[in-house]
Amino acid sequence: MTIEVVPLTEDDIPGAIQVIQRAFEDDPYYKWVFDASTFSKKRNYDSLAARCRWGINNAIFQVAKDTATAKDSQSFPVLGVSCWMAPQPAAQPESWYTWYQGWVLSFNQFLTNIRYLGHGGLRTNRYWIWKENQQKAQAQIWDDPRGYYFCNIVAVSPEAQGKGIGKLLFETVTKQADQEGIKCYLESSKNVPNVQIYEGMGFEMSREMECRDGDDACMLDFTNFLRVAVPTALLYDEKSPNQVMLAVGIRKFA
Ligand SMILES: CC(C)(COP(=O)(O)OP(=O)(O)OC[C@H]1O[C@@H](n2cnc3c(N)ncnc32)[C@H](O)[C@@H]1OP(=O)(O)O)[C@@H](O)C(=O)NCCC(=O)NCCS
Repeated sequence: MTIEVVPLTEDDIPGAIQVIQRAFEDDPYYKWVFDASTFSKKRNYDSLAARCRWGINNAIFQVAKDTATAKDSQSFPVLGVSCWMAPQPAAQPESWYTWYQGWVLSFNQFLTNIRYLGHGGLRTNRYWIWKENQQKAQAQIWDDPRGYYFCNIVAVSPEAQGKGIGKLLFETVTKQADQEGIKCYLESSKNVPNVQIYEGMGFEMSREMECRDGDDACMLDFTNFLRVAVPTALLYDEKSPNQVMLAVGIRKFA
């Protein structure tokens, strides 16, 4: 297996959506936010497709493909997907382009609602409970004015999990974050095995986020993770001009 991580293209969208839908089938958040009895996989596909198209221009949306198993680039199977938001400095207002792209995405989602006569099983009240809690958590945790790399999606198809693909997807962004000295942030509603996986990638649990819909039975626990950038410095020695040493220091999150 030869895995390459490349930016998402239009041709990859069906494969990427299949990976996301399968990887999150048993995810606590999806079970909480979607009503299984009215869930429309097709409606969910169209909604994810709109998000993928938006992500091509507005996010760091990448796919992991096995380039050893297929002959032409169109048919490389997508085995993993990740979507990250680039850091948004606190002092920098949202650009008109970003605002417009967000508006186009919302409008497309509105058209999807009309086409399917509803949200396809999405419990919208729970979606907004999650959104509100997410905003509160980020307002408490995000104190770096340079912003954060924010992981929206990371998913590997079930049969390809545990083979290093998730790590490759993470590393394409965390390496860049380390070079820039920017922190990374993600949330997970699934503690086992994700906490262990994220800790291995340098993330530390920051706090728990509870999403409660009325009574105790309808509650969801999220964990928020932060990864502090690993500062690197190249040490150059004049006596050995062809050699540089990489000094690595890890700042622990307080
Ligand atoms: C979380 C996920 C993206 C990880 O991708 P993956 O390809 O399975 O992970 P990798 O094989 O790259 O493993 C990365 C590290 O985690 C470890 N790991 C992987 N699966 C593990 C498990 N079940 N238990 C403990 N550790 C595990 C690996 O050993 C590896 O550690 P190492 O670098 O020390 O060797 C993937 O499992 C997934 O899609 N899960 C379902 C969807 C999901 O929960 N997404 C996250 C939403 S926040």
